Amino acid sequence: MNRLVVISNRVPAPAAAGAQAGGLAVALEALMERRGGVWFGWSGNLSENPGAVRIAESGRVKYSTVDLTQEEHDRYYNEFSNSTLWPLLHSMPELMTFDRRNAQVYREVNDRLADALVPMLRPDDLIWIHDYHLMCMPNALRSRGVRAPIGFFLHIPFPSADMLASVPEAGALVRDLLAADLIGFQTANDVENFAEVACRIGDALRMPGGWLNVGSRRVRLGVFPVEIEAQEFSGIAEDAWRAAPTERLRRSLSGQRLILGVDRMDPTKGLLQRMAGYRRMLETRPDWHRRVTFLQIAAESRKDVVAYRDLRASVEREAGTINSEFSEPDWTPVRLVARAGARSTVAGYMREARVGLVTPLRDGMNLVAKEFIAAQDPQDPGVLILSRFAGAARQLGSALIVNPHDADEVADAIDMALNMSLGDRQSRWQESWDAIKDATALGWGRSFVGALLRTATVGTVGGGRGLSSGNSNGDGILTAADPLTLLGRPRGAVNLADEASILPPRRLS
Ligand code: F6P
Repeated sequence: MNRLVVISNRVPAPAAAGAQAGGLAVALEALMERRGGVWFGWSGNLSENPGAVRIAESGRVKYSTVDLTQEEHDRYYNEFSNSTLWPLLHSMPELMTFDRRNAQVYREVNDRLADALVPMLRPDDLIWIHDYHLMCMPNALRSRGVRAPIGFFLHIPFPSADMLASVPEAGALVRDLLAADLIGFQTANDVENFAEVACRIGDALRMPGGWLNVGSRRVRLGVFPVEIEAQEFSGIAEDAWRAAPTERLRRSLSGQRLILGVDRMDPTKGLLQRMAGYRRMLETRPDWHRRVTFLQIAAESRKDVVAYRDLRASVEREAGTINSEFSEPDWTPVRLVARAGARSTVAGYMREARVGLVTPLRDGMNLVAKEFIAAQDPQDPGVLILSRFAGAARQLGSALIVNPHDADEVADAIDMALNMSLGDRQSRWQESWDAIKDATALGWGRSFVGALLRTATVGTVGGGRGLSSGNSNGDGILTAADPLTLLGRPRGAVNLADEASILPPRRLS
């Protein structure tokens, strides 16, 4: 079996593995635990003389990390990754800053990480790079002589060519990405955008079946919507619903219906717009006063980035304003918690909620939406209100799909969800549950790794670099000896042609 080498900016410390929040860590942990391999990236620590790679083994995983300097952390992580690329890739240019020096340090950090990793690599490794922090990495590894198959997965959206052009460095980053064999995205829309940019500025030619010809090489694009361990999360929620924290929450509600939001405190999550929708609901439907409580959990995130600090202040102000306008001595319409809760505790809250508000302005996938569905009691499920701009809306089309910018539409959706009959709640929930119930994060990881193996076998001139033989790795993952048939794709991997439109099927009304 080929050894898997995962590269991501954040690497969960072995002690925290299993309890780590954040989409990327949650999605990858199951695969790494089962398959084993190397997980390489930033240690989470800062030091002025970041020395050698630190290695900590746990189970079958070798966690290999390096420190960053303070300047690297500021310019690579806070600035270029989170103040330039994050807003750019989420199509929110009004939040974006650009500074050439930050772009240079971003590239230097990618190069330094590549320098640290290359001596640890073996010819038969499979390399899987994650997310927007490491967009130079495929080319950085190739230019250091690495010939192993390289896959890249972007966890967040990929914008239109015109949007991308607002960052001078973006074209170079796209060319760096094209050094990978397989580039995976959350939705077909992201693939379309990337393919167009690759053809415009990366000299790529589009071929059928999700392939790009880039010079003498072939690069494959694919859609791999990130999944959760749906059945497992459902069990966690059921247990947590009976446990003390949810019991306390239930008691504190004194019969009011719970409207719940769970997010990182992030400008892409649409928290202010969500507050505006809730406020509109309270303004236009006074009947609901004293009968609902909106609990927003907004875990503090990236607090060194100005936009995130500003957001927290604005969200706190808006929650306070709603409360002072609408509260009564014995009723508080908004509860705001700016700390992350334990995942299991939040699962219990989700099961208790009548309404889940997941209304990002843009989101690669949004696993909270899937968790909300998995957490529900099939006999008495809550209703998911979901932004049409979340990748999850393509799979969860039976949710109430809203435009998060339209406060009236969000208000209408909340009212509709609160009034919805049990039969309608059950049928909408069932449709969403059917879309995710057999999926697992492990299956998602396996489908990407399987596709990478098959892509690398036929996708490159002189293909089959360093791949071990055999039909299966014993973990159910397809290996290089399997013939690549574009029709016989692994579950979870979707060819471009499979996903037709950008809009989810069922809209609010
Ligand atoms: O893909 C976005 C992501 O990297 C997720 O993995 C995670 O939810 C979040 O961003 C973590 O952000 P950070 O590493 O900046 O705390």
